[in-house]
Amino acid sequence: MLVTGGAGFIGANFVRLVEKQWPKCQVTVIDKLTYAGNRDNLAGTQTAFVHGDITDAALVDSLVAQTDVIVHFAAESHNDNSLHDPSPFITTNIMGTYVLLEAARKHSVYLHHVSTDEVFGDLEIGAPTTFTETTAYAPSSPYSASKASSDHLVRAWARSFGLQVTVSNCSNNYGPYQHIEKFIPRQITNILDGRTPKLYGTGEQVRDWIHVDDHNLAVLEILAHGEFGETYNIGADQQDINNREVIELICELMGIPGQYEHVADRPGHDQRYAMDASKLREQLGWQPQYTNLRDGLKQTIAWYTEHTAWWKTAKDDVESTYAAKGQ
Ligand code: NAD
Ligand code: DAU
Repeated sequence: MLVTGGAGFIGANFVRLVEKQWPKCQVTVIDKLTYAGNRDNLAGTQTAFVHGDITDAALVDSLVAQTDVIVHFAAESHNDNSLHDPSPFITTNIMGTYVLLEAARKHSVYLHHVSTDEVFGDLEIGAPTTFTETTAYAPSSPYSASKASSDHLVRAWARSFGLQVTVSNCSNNYGPYQHIEKFIPRQITNILDGRTPKLYGTGEQVRDWIHVDDHNLAVLEILAHGEFGETYNIGADQQDINNREVIELICELMGIPGQYEHVADRPGHDQRYAMDASKLREQLGWQPQYTNLRDGLKQTIAWYTEHTAWWKTAKDDVESTYAAKGQ
């Protein structure tokens, strides 16, 4: 199995899960080790590691020639960064996916593409609507537009060239090894570091939070039993809690109830995401293990508390970048 972006948050958790669930599977990771990738995320695993860029066609070709399946996580993943400089999002998320597809086509290798619920745009707060696999694409940010583009490429390669592919679109992940630029780990490490948690705008926005292990268990299920050419939505039905309530829950769990501040809002901020994952549940029998955000957050807070060295060195830089934007 070739895992792209396996030194990032979801990819590293995925590699660890594969070692546990499928011990006979030989995994190779290709990762560029951008600011978001960390070789230590794979410490203690048996995986072969290649430090490289998925836009490097010769390197990708040589790796794909030796693999049975590609699981494609590598991406620029942060919306706020894409507002500042879209360029690496276009290069990695679109061109990188194209390079992988061409190698997969040449060597007739199955590719699973890991994508996001953000390709569907956003929903009105309070409305009863959810995203299904057939919801029209309407991405809002350079990040989500680049992911939408990559989804279209994957489906075009399946239809035009008969490539064996599956696609998954997942909601917001949280859990160990998530970069501290993201909402939940940023607030946890703010509190651990004696800083005040930061809420964008009024915090009315809603995300459909899912623990990273539940996302990755769904990907394993799709790899094992999914149908080629199909797309599966992944979400854990945590659609009733807005950002303000999440930050308040983190403050409460960490013993500083109500102590957070409002900062500048994100331009073009998506209001609400909500996934209908019934196809995955009904056809593949998947269901989330973490059904209560409070329990998942407690586990995540414990991980960041016990792994200070993992995040501490990046903290000043991340916070000064945010401070420069009034966030
Ligand atoms: P991340 O930013 O933590 O990790 C991305 C990894 O990709 C890093 O290790 C980075 O070094 C690597 N990478 C970046 N550019 C590369 C390149 N050109 N060549 C090789 N490696 C490169 O991201 P994440 O949160 O783990 O997300 C992984 C995937 O899951 C992405 O495709 C993202 O769109 C998707 N996704 C994320 C979420 C979420 O909530 N985080 C939800 C749904 C889908
Ligand atoms: O929905 C899936 C997507 O979830 C993935 O495709 C992306 O890769 C991932 O980054 C995530 O995107 P979001 O933009 O939703 O996640 P982020 O953690 O950046 O922000 C979550 C919400 O919290 C969002 O409404 C903005 C808000 N926020 C974020 C930060 C960093 C704050 O209020 N304060 C903050 O400090």
